[in-house]
Amino acid sequence: MDRLTFPDSFAWGASTAAYQIEGGWDADGKGLNIWDTFTHQGGDRVFKNQTGDVACGSYTLWEEDLKCIKQLGLTHYRFSLSWSRLLPDGTTGFINQKGVDYYNKLIDSLLAMNVIPLVTLCHFDTPQALEDQGGWNSEKTAEVFEQYAKFCYSTFGDRVKLWITINEPYVFAKLGYENGIFAPGKKEPGFGAYRSAHNMIKAHAKAWHAYNTFFKEKQKGLVSIALDSDWAEPLDPNSVDDKDACDRYHKFRLHWFANPIFVDGDYPAIMKLKISRKSKAEGLTTSRLPEFSDEEKNMIKGTADFFCLNYYTTRNVRPLSIKQSGPSFDSDMGAEGIKDPDWIESGVEWLAVVPWGLRKLLAYIKDTFGDPNIYITENGFAQSDPPVLQDTHRWGYFQETLAEVLKAIRQDEVKVKGYFAWSLLDNFEWNSGYGVRFGLFHVDFNQSNLPRTPYFSAIEYAKVVKGNELIYK
Ligand code: GAL
Repeated sequence: MDRLTFPDSFAWGASTAAYQIEGGWDADGKGLNIWDTFTHQGGDRVFKNQTGDVACGSYTLWEEDLKCIKQLGLTHYRFSLSWSRLLPDGTTGFINQKGVDYYNKLIDSLLAMNVIPLVTLCHFDTPQALEDQGGWNSEKTAEVFEQYAKFCYSTFGDRVKLWITINEPYVFAKLGYENGIFAPGKKEPGFGAYRSAHNMIKAHAKAWHAYNTFFKEKQKGLVSIALDSDWAEPLDPNSVDDKDACDRYHKFRLHWFANPIFVDGDYPAIMKLKISRKSKAEGLTTSRLPEFSDEEKNMIKGTADFFCLNYYTTRNVRPLSIKQSGPSFDSDMGAEGIKDPDWIESGVEWLAVVPWGLRKLLAYIKDTFGDPNIYITENGFAQSDPPVLQDTHRWGYFQETLAEVLKAIRQDEVKVKGYFAWSLLDNFEWNSGYGVRFGLFHVDFNQSNLPRTPYFSAIEYAKVVKGNELIYK
């Protein structure tokens, strides 16, 4: 039996996102967002055509969430603001005071419990009114986002000191604007992901500068962006082609955002080269990957005060085997990730349990992006529906993962400052609806009061948080 101690003042958290838990989709003047629209369109876009209309009911049952947080003994709680609850049409032209009141209550109560809020400004739920004007395909959205960010800093920044601008721009851009399986459901392969991500990066950078220029001195907080990444291993470690594919896999996902923001203000050279060559061959006069001007590069470079990593899984990578017709992100990247048959699958098909991948990824981020302070802002393991409360298998995955985090800290000297489990509660898992359960707390969606019950994992996680140590056999 090992007793493994975490560094002093390690941040212990759990994460949620507004659309996934709040419900109250049209309550008290909230404006529509793209997930309201997407789920209401039906057509099997989402498992069983489920919606986040009610979800965990956190808009009214937020005190129940606080009880869960208290039971876990968390030092931090990551949640997101619903942009259209605060600003129904996305702009500061009209402010929904009821929305402001809701988040004020939540933030004040967290602080009264000594829980530090880590607040995401946009977790996949763009206001529909902005989407109607082009959404993230439009540069204008970056400007409107900057105004929204300023509004949030000035409204909540006296108490919120840790900010994330945008959650997982890779997933948001690729699933929302390239293959359309997430809201807003735009299918523009080869164009949509690059265009929308371009505007997200600019939006992030503008929001960071707004904080830095107008708020930082007084509020003394930090601003970052949450980047998701798999770890990638070459399928055959002796194959040069597989190693190159692996490199592209990282460059087209993690570096796509981390390179501009943490390194030099620009996209990775290999992305620029691959996409411009293909674009030329397709007869286009300009690359499908938009370019940043020199002024924009200067604006984007260095716009994160810490590194937020969302890690779920690992892939064995090789060159893309299926030839795709027409332009696409995947054929530009020219790589594909495969699950090792030996890896255990959690309750959702894409999530193979690979704790050591996180350690490798942490060391890679340290070496590649200037040894930043890192918060693991999401990591977790789903159960399929119906779940079991005695989820000992899941707790085993958490234990193994936390042991790898400790190795990263102690042996690899990675500056990991915190760990946030995804998720506090079972919730609306995007296009998988309520069929996939990531919660530390079970939510009974069949009962109108949506009761929360701790899984075994919650009880064990609370012990780790309390002792700041992992007792691991
Ligand atoms: C992330 C996302 C979360 C959650 C999680 C589990 O991509 O940020 O909202 O859904 O995946 O799939």
